[in-house]
Amino acid sequence: MKTLRTEYYSDTSVEVSAESRRTFAIISHPDAGKTTITEKLLHASGAIRLAGQVKARGERRRTQSDWMEIEQARGISISSSVMTFDCRNLTYNLLDTPGHQDFSEDTYRTLTAVDSVIMVIDAAKGIEAQTLKLFEVCRLRDIPIITFINKCDRDSRDLFGLLDEIESTLALEVAPINWPVGTGSFFHGCYNFRTNVFSNSSIGRGAPHDAEVLCDDIRDRRFKDCVMPSVYDEFVEEATLASSEYAELQLDAYLEGYQTPVIFGSGLKDYGIRDLLDLLGEIAPSPRIQPAEPAPVSPEDDDVTGFVFKVQANMDPKHRDRIAFLRICSGSFLRGMKLRHSRTGKSLSVHNPIFFFAQDRELADHAAPGDIIGIPNHGTIQVGDAFTSGREVRFTGIPNFAPEILCRVRLKDPMKAKQMRKALEDLSDEGVAQLFRPVIGGQWIVGVVGQLQLDVLTSRIAVEYGINVEFELAPFNTVRWVTSESENALQDFLSRNRSAFAEDRNDAPVLLVRNLWELDRQKTEWPMISFSRTSERS
Ligand code: G4P
Repeated sequence: MKTLRTEYYSDTSVEVSAESRRTFAIISHPDAGKTTITEKLLHASGAIRLAGQVKARGERRRTQSDWMEIEQARGISISSSVMTFDCRNLTYNLLDTPGHQDFSEDTYRTLTAVDSVIMVIDAAKGIEAQTLKLFEVCRLRDIPIITFINKCDRDSRDLFGLLDEIESTLALEVAPINWPVGTGSFFHGCYNFRTNVFSNSSIGRGAPHDAEVLCDDIRDRRFKDCVMPSVYDEFVEEATLASSEYAELQLDAYLEGYQTPVIFGSGLKDYGIRDLLDLLGEIAPSPRIQPAEPAPVSPEDDDVTGFVFKVQANMDPKHRDRIAFLRICSGSFLRGMKLRHSRTGKSLSVHNPIFFFAQDRELADHAAPGDIIGIPNHGTIQVGDAFTSGREVRFTGIPNFAPEILCRVRLKDPMKAKQMRKALEDLSDEGVAQLFRPVIGGQWIVGVVGQLQLDVLTSRIAVEYGINVEFELAPFNTVRWVTSESENALQDFLSRNRSAFAEDRNDAPVLLVRNLWELDRQKTEWPMISFSRTSERS
């Protein structure tokens, strides 16, 4: 493994490093073009030389890792990963989010680790279900969003209709940064209102972007001469209307999450990608203050702090090593540093922290707030864990969600009970599933958000632990975490409902709920008890 960055960062102050970080995720509905845009962003930044390399790497990985077969078979992206790239003195950390709805929990946690988001919308489809769900998560956390309307090289919906849909459905003011010049088979390129650059192709209409025309304004002859007259006229009409109809970019409104700058483009043909990268560098926030207890953590704080938003088994299923993805929130991390693991109180010398570059993994000598480092471990680190070099800290807002499917595990070979327990514990630490231990009876209950998660579990337990298991539905509908300001009321409630009680991995009490009617009854009978759909990790 190579090491790098020592010279570059050796005398850089923490503040300067934090300022230069853009930690973001791309959210979209499957098929809208997230992979294509990721690849083109990496290409535009110079991180990869040939488009197609991201996918190529994906293929290689899949052959190494059997459980990824599920991903291949269903054509979806299951595992989140991190891609770091540098461009024009800025460091971009792109956190990939799984697109499938069954993995929204994992995605939610990934979104706790970013400072901004790119929302990709298919120009022919508008806002789709998964985009909406993910948007709602961003809204909860006031994450600033840049919108990319993709596939303008294909027939699209009416552009004003698309923008109006964003404004009305998402209650988000739009500020168009550029505008397509024709769409579908008439697509000539995009005109950027801020830079007055017309991006087009030297080969001709419909070909990938490789040329730019710097103009005085939209009436510039140099631009007009490149475009079919009817398309030009239509563009001028639309651009004039757009500038009177929609807001101009306002930094405060964007940073507060009220306004979204909109870039039109085509990931496939490279239109709008450079505009997107430039805008991200120019306006996307550097690391923000993180909610934590006893006090919020500022990136300028001297102590190195961070939280784990994801744990992933190593890509080689034969090894039990895992990588915990730690988002650095403050301080200047140096390789070999001793950090305290808040949950266990133990010190950990981080000798082999990993940076995830576009094509490589490299040892991280230094990491600044906003950076993500991978910490290899043997299963000691869980999602939600905090690390600190100084004062004690607990990051808040990294939740577990009440599962929608609860199962018991049936073991085909009863001699393997111990290994199965280990497998379930490991995978629950990774956040692949949740585990509940009923107070009465020994059979553990596994909770997941969707069926696909069960398929992944079954496959990984077989491949990585050599155990064949089956899941059968447990007679419960969901769970609720229970708390009360009155310890007596809580104890009373627990003792009267022992048969419906379990503990989660953090020993927090949960009520196993058979149906929502029963839950309503419990709520009425026990007004002193709070029933929660989410619990915060650790
Ligand atoms: P995802 O990660 O959001 O699921 O989407 P992905 O990038 O894989 O894109 C889904 C499909 O849409 C791909 O086609 C991709 O080539 C196509 N696509 C992405 N961006 C654009 C665009 O700007 N214009 C057009 N016309 N198509 C675009 P595919 O046929 O499913 O896969 P492939 O064989 O091209 O890889």
